[in-house]
Amino acid sequence: MDHGDGAVSLTRLPVWQSLAVHAGEMRGRRVASLFDADPERFRRFSIALDDLLLDLSRHPITDETRDLLLDLARRRNLPERIEDLFQGRRVNLSEGRPALHTALRMPPEASVVVDGKDVVPGVHAELRRMESLVQALHRGEIVGFDGRSVTDVVNLGIGGSDLGSAMAAQALAAYRREGPRVHFSSSVDGRDLRALLQRLEPATTLFIVASKSFTTLETLTQARVAWGWVAEAAGGREGAARHFIGISASESAMADFGIAEDRRLRIWDWVGGRYSVSSAMGFGLAVAVGMDRFLEMLAGMHAMDRHFREAPLKANLPVMMGLSMVWQLSHLGATGHTVLPYHPGLARFPAYLQQLDMESLGKSVTQAGEPVDYPTGGILWGEVGSNAQHSFFQWLHQGTGRAVVELVVPYDEADVPPEHRDLTLASSLGQASALMSGQAAPAGEANGGHRHYPGGRPVTVLLFRRLDPYTLGRLVALHEHRVFVQSVIWDINPFDQWGVELGKRLAGRVLAAQRGDSGAQIDGAARGVLEWVRSREGAGSSSDG
Ligand code: F6P
Repeated sequence: MDHGDGAVSLTRLPVWQSLAVHAGEMRGRRVASLFDADPERFRRFSIALDDLLLDLSRHPITDETRDLLLDLARRRNLPERIEDLFQGRRVNLSEGRPALHTALRMPPEASVVVDGKDVVPGVHAELRRMESLVQALHRGEIVGFDGRSVTDVVNLGIGGSDLGSAMAAQALAAYRREGPRVHFSSSVDGRDLRALLQRLEPATTLFIVASKSFTTLETLTQARVAWGWVAEAAGGREGAARHFIGISASESAMADFGIAEDRRLRIWDWVGGRYSVSSAMGFGLAVAVGMDRFLEMLAGMHAMDRHFREAPLKANLPVMMGLSMVWQLSHLGATGHTVLPYHPGLARFPAYLQQLDMESLGKSVTQAGEPVDYPTGGILWGEVGSNAQHSFFQWLHQGTGRAVVELVVPYDEADVPPEHRDLTLASSLGQASALMSGQAAPAGEANGGHRHYPGGRPVTVLLFRRLDPYTLGRLVALHEHRVFVQSVIWDINPFDQWGVELGKRLAGRVLAAQRGDSGAQIDGAARGVLEWVRSREGAGSSSDG
């Protein structure tokens, strides 16, 4: 794959150096005064896409900034890289494979050829298999070992095999349909699952073992416990098997575990875990809201995919959002990104984005493996906006750190009681104004510094009409592509996660040492902890006595 200018060190590009100079000028300018100078500013720095609005007018950007950022995007061959992504080229260079989450929501008549084979028919075949299982569950046709219908479905998975489906099931709670209750369990310490099992009946519970690799320690440990729980009640393996569905890219690992052939849902190695909510990994979600709603979510994602692929860079939501993040993180000293949904259903959206963003952009080498000499991805965190206002907003307003503040706000949510209706928009926009404009301390007041609001915080406002499946799909795809844009500019691979792999491997060694393997290679600190814990065995805690 030709990387064109992408292979030239980013910091040596003249446009990058121009941006660095321009950043020096912009640091001294107040965004509030840019509004005073240009009554059209809001219109010129916001982009509408149907009922979505991306408002970047509170960022320290001018026409010059935007022109430079768009020039940078072209120098990094962003339009070509977007085509590479959609056409199934090997954009995940370190693992030598494509990243085709966009193919998961393409219509059946589309075609994406990878290694001489069109992947779209396989995607739709899998969606149909998923649909028939979901419908059978809703019709009560999936029965347990004593012939009763399944009443509860438990998703056992972690990271990308949990967060997307769990986040979306909560977000779309208003669309929940009659049928089995859906639960998610991802913890490794077992109490979460045990608490769940105490409430459920083995005969009417179905487990989804969701793991792309089907080797993840946390998930497989949970799955074995669940299997034992069912097998004990069912009187053996035969009875237990009908209580399990597997979702993985490894057919053989599912078979080895004991998942029956007609209960294996497939994903492909070209679906990254954190990009997998639109695949069979969304099975739990589809059970919760019904397959029709799940497909509406995919339609929303596809609409955003098309926009990303087709809209001019300047009017392209993910492109402009990604470029504004690069501007902040690489040039203006921001180290983080806080996502604040003003909708309680989106409570887990920040956690979902945290994996998407930080696992994708937490890299410090280029695609070619060379160290970068510029900051890349920052810290992403968040919380429901109204709650965050009463916890960490103080840091945003008056702290010494700098983060991009993203307010995700519905403007016409159904079912909101009238006395609350205007409050959501008012409180989010009020915070946005305070963050942007700030306020001087009252003149002559002793200790006035405490009441000085510096303002000048970069604020993105993302407005949407209401949180339906289609809109949720658009929001998720918007962020997937925004992350991709940043990765292209920084020339890093957003689709691998080698850093996490090492920790997984070392955990295996610590476990071996804990279980008595004296030859297990662990570091002195880990050994020290194990010895200390061992020395405490039977000692109890200070509160026991
Ligand atoms: O945390 C690392 C990770 O590899 C994530 O990328 C992934 O989503 C998660 O573990 C779960 O992996 P799997 O689906 O293979 O169990």
